[in-house]
Amino acid sequence: MSFNKGLFTNKTILVAGAGKGIGLACATMAAQYDANVIAVARTQADLDKLIVLYPDNITGWAMDVTSESFFQKLKALPVLHGLVNNAGINRVGQMLGQTDENIDAVIDLNIRTLYKISQAAITPMLNSGGASIVNMSSQMGFVGSPNRTLYCMSKHAVEGVTKAMAVELAEHNIRVNTVAPTFVLTPMTEPMFKDEAFHKFVFDMIPLSRLAKVDDIANSCTFLLSELASMITGTSIKVDGGWTAR
Ligand SMILES: NC(=O)c1ccc[n+]([C@@H]2O[C@H](COP(=O)([O-])OP(=O)(O)OC[C@H]3O[C@@H](n4cnc5c(N)ncnc54)[C@H](OP(=O)(O)O)[C@@H]3O)[C@@H](O)[C@H]2O)c1
Repeated sequence: MSFNKGLFTNKTILVAGAGKGIGLACATMAAQYDANVIAVARTQADLDKLIVLYPDNITGWAMDVTSESFFQKLKALPVLHGLVNNAGINRVGQMLGQTDENIDAVIDLNIRTLYKISQAAITPMLNSGGASIVNMSSQMGFVGSPNRTLYCMSKHAVEGVTKAMAVELAEHNIRVNTVAPTFVLTPMTEPMFKDEAFHKFVFDMIPLSRLAKVDDIANSCTFLLSELASMITGTSIKVDGGWTAR
């Protein structure tokens, strides 16, 4: 087996948060490797753009991944070979100023929803004879950083639950790993880099001295979803240019 065009032929892979940024790149790459991709995001127009490019491979679900209707629809799938738990948010700010609303929003999407999506995915995965879950973490799942304690809390939880899920689900041949990116230019982070001091801070922290590209993240995601990673579970691929190695 190798990275060839048919890597995901006859495999169904769901990407939660697939309309923009990293999730869009993961969905696109899975389609390029011939998966049946279920791309989920709330903005229909983003999904439409993806479907036009890969009409044979992409199905769009314009849904909120925090909703009960989404969990039920996912659970009712006949099979599922791969899941990318990518939907996530950040609310940047010092602990002293964080509102309950921010705390609840980050915990709800980054932790609770990731757990609920995974829980719903188990049923169709049991029909698939093996499956792979990739949880989108962050370098902030390994370290702390100014103004990001709330986000760090959520991504440390993602790292922890990934290990626990890997242990619990191994008996079903369901592998669970994370991809942990450094900063990537996406709609979520673009506004942050308008601040010159922040820009300098980030580049000083990354030994490779560049931001990651969405395809850098999608490459690792593709590998972990595939049978090429069949003995890998309960761990993380840090795509961080060396940030956490300092
Ligand atoms: N960008 C970075 O530098 C970076 C670094 C490390 C880790 N990460 C992680 O990578 C993941 C993706 O980040 P990103 O920067 O690519 O985000 P993004 O640009 O904000 O894109 C997020 C995608 O998820 C969808 N989404 C968000 N909430 C959703 C919901 N409730 N239901 C359905 N879809 C939803 C959005 O579409 P709709 O709004 O249309 O629903 C959008 O398509 C996150 O988990 C983030 O924490 C990002």
